[in-house]
Amino acid sequence: MKFFLDSAKIDEIREAYDTFGIDGITTNPNHIMNSGKPFYTVIAELAEFVKEKDIECWEKFPISVEINPHLDDVDEMLEMGTKIAAMSSSFVIKVPCTPSGIEAARKLEQKGIRTNLTLVFSPTQALIAAKNNSLFVSPFIGWKENSGEDCRKYIDDIVKIYKNYGFYGKTEIICAAVRNGKQIVDCAVSGADIVTAGLDVYKEAFYHPFTDYGLKKFQAAWDKTITD
Ligand code: E4P
Repeated sequence: MKFFLDSAKIDEIREAYDTFGIDGITTNPNHIMNSGKPFYTVIAELAEFVKEKDIECWEKFPISVEINPHLDDVDEMLEMGTKIAAMSSSFVIKVPCTPSGIEAARKLEQKGIRTNLTLVFSPTQALIAAKNNSLFVSPFIGWKENSGEDCRKYIDDIVKIYKNYGFYGKTEIICAAVRNGKQIVDCAVSGADIVTAGLDVYKEAFYHPFTDYGLKKFQAAWDKTITD
């Protein structure tokens, strides 16, 4: 399973890359706003980051960048998607799962620009992303679970449908808005390709108090042992 960082903050991205070896980045207008910087400044920084690390291209280190969420005209969506994609071969264009977004994603893919169909909340929406050859589909987990749904069957169904029709591994399933380790495990058990989450979620998920307890115990043993 791949781990993507859901963030547009370059310091967080560097930390997640160096510490956990994250496999890619997802951004959205909220993350860009939270970075406190202008949109094109942030994405230029992201483009620079992959160059510096020598991982530029969507196959090595994909970075999903969402187009202006106000756009609903397909030609305008294509224009903005094409402009963003020209800035880095790591950029994958995130478009909402609306009728215009679906059409724009299909047309971008036909032009060789990779896409991520986002704001996906049902297996049928996930199916249309795969039928139109999007590189990624982003079913949101956290938002649904926050409102009381259990997403295990949701992800199971998407994985099963993709396997039924040969889409599995072609359109990669990014479980998005992941909030905790339990959700990461659920997604992994279902066979989702990727989870995307914030840095704090990963830090908490990769921590266990028994690791600290065990370390202290072994340190005490080490201190009572002659090393030679
Ligand atoms: C996914 O690609 C989204 O960027 C993300 O997970 C949205 O959710 P959040 O901002 O509520 O975490």
